[in-house]
Amino acid sequence: MPSSTPSTPKVSVVIVGAGIGGLTLAAFLRRLGISFVVLERTAVLTPQGAGISLAPNCLAALAQLGLYEKIARNAQELLGIRVYREKECWGTIDFGLAKRWFGYNVLSIERHEFHGYLYEAAGGEGVVRLGWNVADILGLERDNGDGVLRVVSDDGREIHADVVVGADGIRSVTRRILSRSIGLKSENTIRFTGRVHMSGYTQPLPHLSTNDLGYGHWMLYNDSILTTWPCKENRQWFIGVKRADNLVNPDRSVWKGATPDTVNGVYGEKFHPFGKDGTVKAIVDRSERVIASNVFEEADFPHMVQGRVALLGDAAHSMTSFFGQGACQAIEDATVLADSISLFLDGDKNALEAYSRVREKRAQEVANFSANYALLHTARLAPLGLGKLMRALVYRLVPSSAWMWYLEWLYGHQPVSKRR
Ligand SMILES: Cc1cc2nc3c(=O)[nH]c(=O)nc-3n(C[C@H](O)[C@H](O)[C@H](O)COP(=O)(O)OP(=O)(O)OC[C@H]3O[C@@H](n4cnc5c(N)ncnc54)[C@H](O)[C@@H]3O)c2cc1C
Ligand SMILES: *[C@@H]1O[C@H](CO)[C@@H](O)[C@H](O)[C@H]1NC(C)=O
Ligand SMILES: *[C@@H]1O[C@H](CO)[C@@H](O)[C@H](O)[C@H]1NC(C)=O
Repeated sequence: MPSSTPSTPKVSVVIVGAGIGGLTLAAFLRRLGISFVVLERTAVLTPQGAGISLAPNCLAALAQLGLYEKIARNAQELLGIRVYREKECWGTIDFGLAKRWFGYNVLSIERHEFHGYLYEAAGGEGVVRLGWNVADILGLERDNGDGVLRVVSDDGREIHADVVVGADGIRSVTRRILSRSIGLKSENTIRFTGRVHMSGYTQPLPHLSTNDLGYGHWMLYNDSILTTWPCKENRQWFIGVKRADNLVNPDRSVWKGATPDTVNGVYGEKFHPFGKDGTVKAIVDRSERVIASNVFEEADFPHMVQGRVALLGDAAHSMTSFFGQGACQAIEDATVLADSISLFLDGDKNALEAYSRVREKRAQEVANFSANYALLHTARLAPLGLGKLMRALVYRLVPSSAWMWYLEWLYGHQPVSKRR
């Protein structure tokens, strides 16, 4: 049983997990002058995935953290998305319009690079403790607002805090601790979807012309889909989804030892207009990093606050990757939560509850949209041939301005911190 000594460190906020959500919250708390530490299980920062697309709804917050210029310099603006059904181009959605409608275009960037910016903005090694695996949180039961929370590692170290934030991802330990000790609404309820992701980040593709710069592709194959996103210097990051043929362990998130051959085994022979010879293989073979992982879905969402413990990002609401909103929602959460924590520490006892009310609704809307969009995109929104027809109609007929008009609820909502 770990015990506290007079030398046990105390901060206002302990953040569990140095993922995108945890580091964004840290950067905002730093800006507000609130004391905190970030506890990260892994010995080195290891962002999962290859690239990331940052949508207008999270870019305003990143701009407030002073990161927009840096991101924009090292990312590529999305100008359009070309939709292909096998080899046939169905049309182009003009995403360059996003800047006029929402102030920002979608930006695609290498994931480790982006993670590095957040790490720096959070305060780097001064505040992020690596190799700190949170095993328990004590003091939850005395939740009358003035007790101290004791965060304990698996090797018996302890840090005390007024507020604890679980930003520890889809298999959140914080969430499990809450549900075990005080009956949070739901235990982790992630389920393997039977699908796998394959993702990678390429070197520049020198055969592409300036006309190709900024164009993403949504490739709808007969048995799978693949999306490519333009990054700087005509690099691409790609992510595919396909039904897994019993060859994966459903309990593992990331496949160990996935190589370009793993990806080519699934997508290699398929058509892509950016492959030098018209194949996906030509793109995959220029990848610097490939990752294969299982896709999970969430059956039930918990309340995002319990006493003085809050959840954010994937720990609270994991969603399908079809519209690339998981990290953007973690950033939105962090932005709103930073203000709520600031108010709470200033004596507003209801501030954390207010965070959960606002964010549960938004996250649920985005998760519902992502799930429905996934059905449309894979032609499963309606039975028989109807799903295919609906998908074809949407991609062939809906004009770009209508896409932007529709996306207002998602991209036009741009939370920023109001405290200083
Ligand atoms: C292939 C793929 C592509 C994606 N593409 C996009 C995209 O383009 N745009 C987008 O917005 N989203 C995207 N997403 C979703 C996005 O990656 C996630 O939603 C986002 O990373 C979640 O961030 P997070 O901070 O909540 O959690 P995570 O990034 O999972 O971070 C959790 C951290 O907590 C640490 N941790 C866990 N347990 C403990 C513990 N007990 N003690 C201490 N530390 C712990 C972990 O090691 C990890 O570092 C994609 C997801 C996948 C799988
Ligand atoms: C995809 O399916 C259609 C119709 O079932 C078929 O005609 C076509 O040849 C298939 N394409 C590929 C590349 O397998
Ligand atoms: C999301 O979908 C679920 C299940 O279909 C529904 O119960 C819920 O009301 C929806 N929530 C929002 C905010 O749209």
